[in-house]
Amino acid sequence: MEVFYLYLLCLFILFVSFALHFIFYKRNSSSLTGTLPPGRTGWPFIGESFEFLSTGWKGHPEKFIFDRMSMYSSSVFKTHLLGEKAAVFCGPTCNKFLFSNENKLVQAWWPDSVNKVFPSSTQTSSKEEAIKMRKMLPNFFKPEALQRYVGIMDHIAQCHFASSWENKSQIEVFPLAKRYTFWLACRLFVSVEDPNHVAIFADPFNVLASGLISIPINLPGTPFNRAIKASNLVRKELLLIIKQRKIDLAQGKASPTQDILSHMLLTSDEIGKYMHELDIADKILGLLIGGHDTASSACTFIVKYLAELPEIYEGVYKEQMEIAKSKAAGELLRWDDIQKMKYSWNVACEVLRLASPLQGAFREAINDFMFNGFYIPKGWKLYWSANSTHKNPEFFPEPEKFDPSRFEGSGPAPYTFVPFGGGPRMCPGKEYARLEILVFMHHLVKRFKWEKVIPNEKIVVDPMPIPAKGLPVRLYPHKA
Ligand code: HEM
Repeated sequence: MEVFYLYLLCLFILFVSFALHFIFYKRNSSSLTGTLPPGRTGWPFIGESFEFLSTGWKGHPEKFIFDRMSMYSSSVFKTHLLGEKAAVFCGPTCNKFLFSNENKLVQAWWPDSVNKVFPSSTQTSSKEEAIKMRKMLPNFFKPEALQRYVGIMDHIAQCHFASSWENKSQIEVFPLAKRYTFWLACRLFVSVEDPNHVAIFADPFNVLASGLISIPINLPGTPFNRAIKASNLVRKELLLIIKQRKIDLAQGKASPTQDILSHMLLTSDEIGKYMHELDIADKILGLLIGGHDTASSACTFIVKYLAELPEIYEGVYKEQMEIAKSKAAGELLRWDDIQKMKYSWNVACEVLRLASPLQGAFREAINDFMFNGFYIPKGWKLYWSANSTHKNPEFFPEPEKFDPSRFEGSGPAPYTFVPFGGGPRMCPGKEYARLEILVFMHHLVKRFKWEKVIPNEKIVVDPMPIPAKGLPVRLYPHKA
């Protein structure tokens, strides 16, 4: 009898196993055939997040990517990051695939913490808000608007260098670069120019930015909790400015084109609806975040490389002094001056290649699909990595060598140089960033030579690259 029950039990287990296999097979394959990309998923829950983040903390985020590209596959490997099943897409073909399948096979994805720090005022998801924002942004960054910004950027840069760099023998570059880009953003986004008013935003804003990509534990004292409180504070301050601007616009005291805020208040969507005040506050907050640490990281690394490479410094100095000498006393930089800064921009691009402010970004698979013979299930997170091409000798020979001539002529091959991403989600602030970086370079080399205080200062990538001690430098002003 016992043997009979044992036999029944075995049959039952066999039946359940077959059923489970069938259910899983059906669900996973969903009419597609193929294997998942090679790779490992690491520890339960944590996956490979620690390895992913810690190579950045040690200053070599590309190591995570290149180790796995050589172990598993040079195009796509599976992993498990930030609590999600993920595949990393490497190389120009993969970049092209992800960038050109936006909203067809993939869509943008942010870690949970971002949604919680930005609860949308209209109860839609940050995804829907980003789509709305994406439609409006070209208005704020169109060439006519950008051309108007050059003079304003020049004016703010002069004030910034006069107050924070001149008459100092030693400074720390990263905090000052942040002060510069934030001041510019406050002026160009909401017309706040008074340094005391800018300072009201700056402190909570820095807390907010550092807690945005953090473990989403909302307990007193955690970076995430501080970020939520800070975002409420900045939003409150922005709302005051928005309400006042509405009054000023109605009374003709403010101009419809003076900044991004005026544009947002006066631009309606396709059905003639204007944006809610809280939505505008969130959008401006998003722009401040998108543009802040990225551009200041780039400016900081420009200072670092120019300190290390005197012949590159000389090239930039020569170009910028020709422009400076062509200006009358007190005359501000103009759009056509920026167009002459070709060598300086090649140098900036080489900096963006070697120290890309964003290491990459995530997408989410909207449906199951096949890529390069591998099956990518719906819901998986897909990561494109700037370093997979920027630091790859196949696309940039001697990738560690600083060589701005890579950007001469037709420049790098398509989809290999991607510091701003690509396709429909390419950074909308790219041209704005180019202007603020070039204006920064102009004022920097016109005034100073400098040397690093810490010759081999460590670089930390968390999530942007920054010199661990903020890049202290000794300044040597040019003789008048
Ligand atoms: C050197 C400076 C900058 C770099 C390297 C950079 C890079 C990037 C990258 C790689 C993305 C993500 C693209 C993707 O998801 O595939 C992005 C998105 C974005 N950037 Fe920038 N960015 C910079 C400056 C700026 C500035 C100055 C602004 C605003 C004025 C800005 C606003 C944004 C916004 C709003 C998004 C999100 C767009 C969306 O989700 O569709 N960025 N940026």
